[in-house]
Amino acid sequence: MVFTPEFQANPHPVYARLRAELPVHQVTLPGGMLAWLVTRYEDARLALTDPRFVKQGLTTPTGPNAEIAPDVLAAMSSHMLSSDPPDHTRLRRMVSAAFTHRRVEQLRPRVEEITAGLLDEMAGQDTVDLIDAFAFPLPIQVICELLGIPGADRESFRDWSNTIVAGVVAGEKLPIAFAALLGYLRELIADKRAHPAEDLISALIEVQEADGDRLTENELTSTVFLLLLAGHETTVNLLGNSVYLLLSERERWEKLRADAETLLPTAIEEFLRYESPVETATFRMAAEDITLSGVTIPAGDAVLVGLLAGNRDGGRFPEAGLLDMARTENPHLAFGHGIHYCLGAPLARLEARIALGGLLSRFPDLRLAVPASELEWRPGVLMRGLLALPVTGLTS
Ligand code: HEM
Repeated sequence: MVFTPEFQANPHPVYARLRAELPVHQVTLPGGMLAWLVTRYEDARLALTDPRFVKQGLTTPTGPNAEIAPDVLAAMSSHMLSSDPPDHTRLRRMVSAAFTHRRVEQLRPRVEEITAGLLDEMAGQDTVDLIDAFAFPLPIQVICELLGIPGADRESFRDWSNTIVAGVVAGEKLPIAFAALLGYLRELIADKRAHPAEDLISALIEVQEADGDRLTENELTSTVFLLLLAGHETTVNLLGNSVYLLLSERERWEKLRADAETLLPTAIEEFLRYESPVETATFRMAAEDITLSGVTIPAGDAVLVGLLAGNRDGGRFPEAGLLDMARTENPHLAFGHGIHYCLGAPLARLEARIALGGLLSRFPDLRLAVPASELEWRPGVLMRGLLALPVTGLTS
């Protein structure tokens, strides 16, 4: 019932039924793994904060997978999002300074410059895939510059990263992608070691060289991997989903254009709630028997917290099924909650404001180039985003 192609085309009716009838329900995921899917807002929030839901024992960002060689896994999953305190605290602190509001605000001129360049490249074309031409390259360029990854390398890891996030549905491509990406990361880190620069990878290497106890080699490669993956796979969905929501009911586009200055910040929060780019949080495991909404999840079982499902819960959001760009009370779970709350949220919000603001003012006539019903969604459990978003009307 869940995570099939039909479900992915429109998961909302299924989530509504689950919230009403089976709010904590064991599902079989593509690939055969079993997990308890939590779909109500309050349960989701609780599960994200309750320390009895742990990460330890789960080894990949997309869930347990026995086919990946253990040394490869260790080198890519020893990061904050796979850790519990105290390791989590230590690993998060190591990079959190780079993502504060103040530090992120300093990136604004560069994000504006990259956005303007991409808009220039699209201008005058007949039809473009907005994902390929805009939603993907913008966040990638930003995270790569922050980490210090050369431009020429970027295309090569797009496929690997997409495959890893698709998880078991990627089949035999999955271990190949893991190994290839790890090989790339190791080379990159060796190169940075030889030629340090003013970037985040060099700063992490400095910590590691000063004190291997504070950051092991596996933790270093894993942290770079996590930041790269988060930069690749998330904001692209926010930008794509937002434009899809705006153009599939065009009066939204006109309304936002008429008052972007005041409406854009709340509109972005509403897009995050309404078509959440990260559909479910990463796997957790019940460290002991835990009861949610009357259902007991046995110790040792895997748990998937539904962020998109919780964000459409009418028990928490009045008129949850209505997209209201002026919604002000909007405590959505799109960036997670609790200790793993998204470290990149300030950066994602900055990118979204600049990117959507730029599109609205540069291309007032932007419209979908195909019927909305023909758009296809990405496979996999974790992400909610479009595979492609053909648009037209690219005249300034
Ligand atoms: C719209 C864009 C984004 C969305 C919707 C998003 C969403 C999320 C969510 C839901 C989590 C929690 C996952 C869980 O608890 O299982 C998370 C964690 C995280 N995100 Fe994001 N993210 C976005 C962009 C970014 C960016 C641009 C970065 C940085 C490059 C980033 C870095 C991280 C990191 C490092 C964590 C792990 C935090 C921890 O474990 O303490 N995210 N994100």
